[in-house]
Amino acid sequence: MYLTREEERIYNGEYGWAKQVCMKVLVKLGELFGASRLIPVESAHVSGVSYKTLGDAPADFLEALADADEKAAVEATLNPQSLDPKHLAGRLPENLVKPQRRLCEIFEKMGFKTCYTCTPYYIKAPKRGSHLAWAESSAVVYANSVLGAWTNREGGPSALAAAIIGKTPDCGIHKAENRKPQILIEVKAPLEKEVDFGALGIFLGKVLEDKIPLITGLGKPTFENLKQLGAALASAGMVNMLHYNSAAVKIEKERLEKITVEPKNIQETIEELTTTSTAKPDLVFVGCPHCSFREIREIAEKMSDKKVRADIEFWVCTSRHIKEKANRYVQKIEASGAKIITDTCAVVTWTDKLGIKTIMTNSAKTAHYAPTMNKAEVKLASLEECLKTALKR
Ligand code: F3S
Repeated sequence: MYLTREEERIYNGEYGWAKQVCMKVLVKLGELFGASRLIPVESAHVSGVSYKTLGDAPADFLEALADADEKAAVEATLNPQSLDPKHLAGRLPENLVKPQRRLCEIFEKMGFKTCYTCTPYYIKAPKRGSHLAWAESSAVVYANSVLGAWTNREGGPSALAAAIIGKTPDCGIHKAENRKPQILIEVKAPLEKEVDFGALGIFLGKVLEDKIPLITGLGKPTFENLKQLGAALASAGMVNMLHYNSAAVKIEKERLEKITVEPKNIQETIEELTTTSTAKPDLVFVGCPHCSFREIREIAEKMSDKKVRADIEFWVCTSRHIKEKANRYVQKIEASGAKIITDTCAVVTWTDKLGIKTIMTNSAKTAHYAPTMNKAEVKLASLEECLKTALKR
């Protein structure tokens, strides 16, 4: 791999051990994936911030980096952690709260933006064609497919190294020739609600492996529908971008292998993701990935002036940024007894420690993960059904 003189000096430790370790991580990855050089990134988005998923071992290393006075060299955002400051921190045991707070302080010391969201693009959308080093899989698909930015799916350590060095190996879908569609997906199923898009993502994630699809038959998806599709696709498989309804369809159609998605594939996927038939879940959760401004507004409007049932918790997860921006709707939602949760989500916090055994959600990604990550039974349903369940008649 070719390194500039400056990169070589970092590699040889002339700028200290911490930068050297980060550079070595990037070079090692570059060599593994056939990169010939490093390229600058506009931003990095780091996952592995939640103590629930990270555990104790990496904290000492992260602290050593912070103590060496290492700072992010580019704009660097953070994925959700495990605590919501308003509604959850006070309900969880100190042995979980304390190490999570320590992790947050370490990242803050290193100059990372403490936004704690999986939708950093709602805070600042990356420029079209810009190179990124993002580690949240749902955000990776969205950035590549909807926003037109270019990023591989980084792991937590490589996104961290990229944030500190400001560069990433020039490989994978940083290269134009690796971004072309490799398989044609013809969707023959009517996709009406967000759960249909999520179910399509889970179904395709399992059959595509890492092939980039060109998907036709999506109709006119909203950005939020595409967010659900991409999040589910990335959680069930290794796909990092998709093409949809693009002008490329006519040109590419002939040469691609084809898969057809029938209505029964969507229906069966929704049924498979649903593990409980309970009429009364302990938690109704929307906001995976974190809600957009439009979703918060839609929820507030659909709730009308109804109140949340006393025997069900209703969480709406979003970022601090959107919470502030949508304050008017947030007030309305919270007046119903629902909780606007920021900085975390049902999957990366300890719902089991809160006595939650059944979760109803409109997110296929959450439905996919909750049985293992939350040890919970799940019901996947549309936003309308979630609201109907959570609200008093
Ligand atoms: Fe975000 Fe949590 Fe879903 S991190 S993508 S809301 S699992």
